[in-house]
Amino acid sequence: MKRNFLHLYGVLGLGLLGGCASPQSDEITAPGGGHTIRFELHDGRPTYCVLRDGDSLIGRSALGFELSDGLLADDFRVTKIRHRSYDDSWVQLWGEDSLVRNRCNEMTVALEQRSENRRRLEIVFRAYDDGVALRYRFPEQQPDSVVILDELTEFALPAGSRGWSIPWDTGAYEGIYKLKPLASTETLAVPVTVQTPDNLYLALHEAALTDYASLNLRCDSTGRLHSFLTPWKSGVKVYARAPFPTPWRTMIIAEKPGDLLLSRMMLNLNEPCRIADAEEWIRPGRYIGIWWGMHLKHYTWHESPNHGATTENTKRYIDFAAAHNIDGVLAEGWNKDWYSWKFDFCRSASDFDLEEVARYAAEKGVMFISHHETDGDFETYERQLDSAFALCQKHGIRFVKTGYCGGVFRNGERHGSQFGVRHYRKVIETAARYRVMIDNHEPVMPTGLQRTYPNLMTQEGVRGQEWDAWSSDGGNPPSHTTVVPFTRGLAGPMDFTPGTFDFTNEKHPGTRVRTTLAKQLALSVVLYSPWQMASDMIENYENHPAFAFLSACPASWGETVVPEAEIGSYVTIARRERGSADWYVGSITNEEPHDLQLDLSFLAPGARYRATLYEDGPEADYRTNPYPVTIREEIVTADSILPLHLAPGGGAAIRIVKL
Ligand code: NOJ
Ligand code: CA
Repeated sequence: MKRNFLHLYGVLGLGLLGGCASPQSDEITAPGGGHTIRFELHDGRPTYCVLRDGDSLIGRSALGFELSDGLLADDFRVTKIRHRSYDDSWVQLWGEDSLVRNRCNEMTVALEQRSENRRRLEIVFRAYDDGVALRYRFPEQQPDSVVILDELTEFALPAGSRGWSIPWDTGAYEGIYKLKPLASTETLAVPVTVQTPDNLYLALHEAALTDYASLNLRCDSTGRLHSFLTPWKSGVKVYARAPFPTPWRTMIIAEKPGDLLLSRMMLNLNEPCRIADAEEWIRPGRYIGIWWGMHLKHYTWHESPNHGATTENTKRYIDFAAAHNIDGVLAEGWNKDWYSWKFDFCRSASDFDLEEVARYAAEKGVMFISHHETDGDFETYERQLDSAFALCQKHGIRFVKTGYCGGVFRNGERHGSQFGVRHYRKVIETAARYRVMIDNHEPVMPTGLQRTYPNLMTQEGVRGQEWDAWSSDGGNPPSHTTVVPFTRGLAGPMDFTPGTFDFTNEKHPGTRVRTTLAKQLALSVVLYSPWQMASDMIENYENHPAFAFLSACPASWGETVVPEAEIGSYVTIARRERGSADWYVGSITNEEPHDLQLDLSFLAPGARYRATLYEDGPEADYRTNPYPVTIREEIVTADSILPLHLAPGGGAAIRIVKL
């Protein structure tokens, strides 16, 4: 670890330390070398920069706050700098791999303002091998009230950097990530993924968002990114009382796009699991649901002659799940008052018998997944929260999908505001008390909280496949799924809901799923979710040979590798099933065809495997004929190379079973 701050001061021409006992700058380097994050106090103003192999990666960037009672960004002196190192490992209850190594160097800089009020602030820096992070800590002090008008953290990225981003106020983050020069981008939601002119990849995000506002970025004409936090309606960003820490500001640093997907820094920056008996009732799985039928207008959510969630229809789905190795069945529209778009979470629709459905599901060994659509009416929901989850517990229902529609609650507060962050946390904590897992739609952007609350299984916060049912722009472009793993996907599991087998859409002409069928299979591996949906109506799966892949494909992984990836073009991911020697591969492309030579060196050396390949068949093309799938078997080893051809908008899925 280098600590040449006196030399640094000479280089920067900042003069002597002025009799100050503590250094005014310091730095830490990642345990494996490579990148360094450096703190410097300039004329009393805290700043940081990031170096990569000695060269500037993030130039000098401001730190601090504008508070309601003054600036907390200048007039500082350093009172103390502490260093620590960590190297430990922990096991994920579920995830993309089982063992996570937490290896980093840490530096905490304690600051005090010189002026009368002597406000104190600490800044904690961490350098991991896969990136750097920093957070603020407001130590105990008087007055303890902190009203944040603005967080001033900057990110001075290299000139000419480009980034994949969506604007900060994209409703529920359901937008298409676009690649643009940062300097031409006005606002960005995080995560934002940046490619520097030197072809390094940086993903900026936040970790451990707790009782604070979510982070967004604003870009100035030079390409410098400035933080701005999602405000309350009042314009204030955060109301807090010291002591408290802010979320971490995180920067994954990778030489290859695929390495972004292997970073576990965000999880390392979250607190360990707080649910004592988590292992007893939290588990990943695959699910089907009475869902796509409503988006296609084949069924209604509300009670009608075409009501989807009837007792009878839900039992039909449960039977299908039991017969095809599917763990869960979701039924949206099971509860009262959908017609008036007011919701009651404790009363069933008149043609839906909750007790009987829950009993039947348990008898068949299938998890019934309940649904709480709130339409942003948090007041009704919070009023019913305990009784709604108690009802689940009474019937042995262990999983609820929640939803909020749009990006703003009915009282006008935004999902990403401190208000929203508090609401979502309350739901997760209440659900945990009643031993219920959550799949949250229209969330605040995830920040790794699933490590602390592993009942927060999966979330939307992405322009998912529902848009392919009704979006007036025709649906998601084929490139979308080659981008989201590297943007929204870095924030945590995505309930994207792939699985279309029937590409017709009579009620919305001009809109449809724009992939081949083989790509739909591959998405189950590529897009990580610990509860992964097979989203089509079951009649489209009956007797279809390709459904064997979805039937077999797990949602729980012991190991993940990324053989090849180019953001926006193609990505291939291989995952080993948790507790097994079997592997599953998903490979997808954008609107262009793609050929690859898949190197199977990730398999165990010396072992033989049977690979079942599901590939785009002759003439497959997402525009003209999405259906052809060729299914074939091959014996493979770690020395094998599989040539794969992906059609336009296509993909390939492979199940590799150890013999
Ligand atoms: C939006 C959710 O994303 C979708 O999955 C759900 O079906 C509808 N809201 C209705 O609750
Ligand atoms: Ca949605």
